[in-house]
Amino acid sequence: MRATSSQGIGKSVLLIIGGGIAAYKCLELIRQLSKRGITTRVIMTKAAEQFVTPLSVVSLSGENVFTDLFSLTDETQMGHIELSRSTDLVVVAPATADLMAKMAAGLAVDLASTTLLATDKAVLLAPAMNVRMWHHLATARNITQLKKDGIHFVGPNEGDMACGEFGLGRMAEPMEIVAAIESLLSPRIQPLTGRRVLITAGPTQEAIDPVRYISNRSSGKQGYALAEAAANMGADVTLVSGPVALATPLGVRRVDVTTADEMLVAVKQIPNTDLAIFCAAVADWKVANPARQKLKKNDASEPPSLSFVPSPDILKSVAGLHEGRPKIIVGFAAETENVIANAKAKLKSKGCDIIIANDVSEGVFGTNKNVVHFVSAKGVESWPELSKSEVAQRVLAACAGLLK
Ligand code: C5P
Repeated sequence: MRATSSQGIGKSVLLIIGGGIAAYKCLELIRQLSKRGITTRVIMTKAAEQFVTPLSVVSLSGENVFTDLFSLTDETQMGHIELSRSTDLVVVAPATADLMAKMAAGLAVDLASTTLLATDKAVLLAPAMNVRMWHHLATARNITQLKKDGIHFVGPNEGDMACGEFGLGRMAEPMEIVAAIESLLSPRIQPLTGRRVLITAGPTQEAIDPVRYISNRSSGKQGYALAEAAANMGADVTLVSGPVALATPLGVRRVDVTTADEMLVAVKQIPNTDLAIFCAAVADWKVANPARQKLKKNDASEPPSLSFVPSPDILKSVAGLHEGRPKIIVGFAAETENVIANAKAKLKSKGCDIIIANDVSEGVFGTNKNVVHFVSAKGVESWPELSKSEVAQRVLAACAGLLK
């Protein structure tokens, strides 16, 4: 077979197929690896055999498939210890909640988990499960542990699930897994490797009384896309987030805050930042004296009048630091009119290096699309309509270039 890329040529992968509906995608994964000259040996769990047959796996990989810890044939051909060592990388796809729990606990109860405990090679997991299982505290705990143990992850993605639900838990597509395998087999220096990146995202909430607050329509999607893209480019990312309904991108450290004051404190605690991107929609004003008790509706009286004071301008105060100012500071300017003129003025008044300006008069809040202008001392670049994740990649690529 002809190799289409040389990154992994001559290398070998031990693929552990877990028991989930996404197991069928492993056939395409094996085919793509083989096209690239990467040898794939396969272990299948008992549950995986319910979804794909060992015969189809053998036919595509051209290698024996191992299924049984206590099989005399398997052990005489290649013992499980050797299987785990005579490879360049171990890949688990789909990595089920069950397999990840076994790994996190260090269990060795079948061939797959025993091999994972015995290996001294890098391990890449492509999780796949129902969205509720993904968000379950036990799964989150196991993932935190596995990340601490140095396990690599690709996905999961958001989308429709085989069970009819929607959300995070779809296994990464075969080509995404191939890309992750190639980068682990021949690690390249990523553009933001070794860089510390701070990102603020989401809205803030400013209390009126213990039950009411003032906020805005920010969904946090653009900020989270930036955090994800920065982590994918090798950065050490801290995401300071207002209240949003989004999952923390893999590999990102998240600090949750509610108010602008809390966001300022959290931001100031993060030292030695190379790049700071202020994407949060911070409330410009907060209620001067929030009521300690719930304000009561009294039919006889007038509605309460609120007086406001400015909330701290986080971006401006970080940009004005004499010591410890991040090397590059990016601000966002959400405008409903005179977008570019306002962005240029903001670049100066806030003291930042770049402003990403967008017209939020319609169709930006909560959507996955954005139309932005990249404003710096060099001038204005207007980008076409892009997904928030594409905007994030472009912004970070530009910043990585400036940091060089
Ligand atoms: O002043 P305006 O809200 O338009 O400025 C937008 C930029 O300033 C964004 O980058 C936002 O995250 C940041 N900002 C801030 N603290 C504030 C207000 C805005 O960091 N109080």
